[in-house]
Amino acid sequence: ATLLVLNGPNLNMLGTRQPELYGHETLADVESICLRRGEVHDLAIDFRQTNHEGELIGWLHQARGKVAGVVLNPAAWTHTSVAIRDAILASELPVIEVHISNVHQREAFRHRSYISDVAVGVICGLGTHGYALAIDGFAHRLEGASR
Ligand code: DQA
Repeated sequence: ATLLVLNGPNLNMLGTRQPELYGHETLADVESICLRRGEVHDLAIDFRQTNHEGELIGWLHQARGKVAGVVLNPAAWTHTSVAIRDAILASELPVIEVHISNVHQREAFRHRSYISDVAVGVICGLGTHGYALAIDGFAHRLEGASR
């Protein structure tokens, strides 16, 4: 099975962007973490990032029926985008929402997510390890599905 790992705006700047919040690892490091975790579970990982909302929406549409699940860090779109929420619903795919930082310790506008209630689960505040945990979560769900 394949998992999509989708990253929203400004995450291409990881490593140099507010390292006190997001750490020093780059997005390429996060991709390696995901690929390695995928190998452990025999899951193929399709890892992507975009700064264009419509592109992310297109990826969700195209993934419908084709992947086992989506690990999604919607970044700032978490707090703004009804369109991404609707695309998740249209895709009928299970989504695990990931945030590197603990959004609940931050500004009030980051406490609201348009994604969380349409996600199967949410991981935040555990740094880039959250991506590995999300992949573990899908592996566990898929094991359950095959038993
Ligand atoms: C983020 C949290 C968001 O509030 C923020 O806009 C981001 C990154 C995180 O991974 O902690 O860009 O999704």
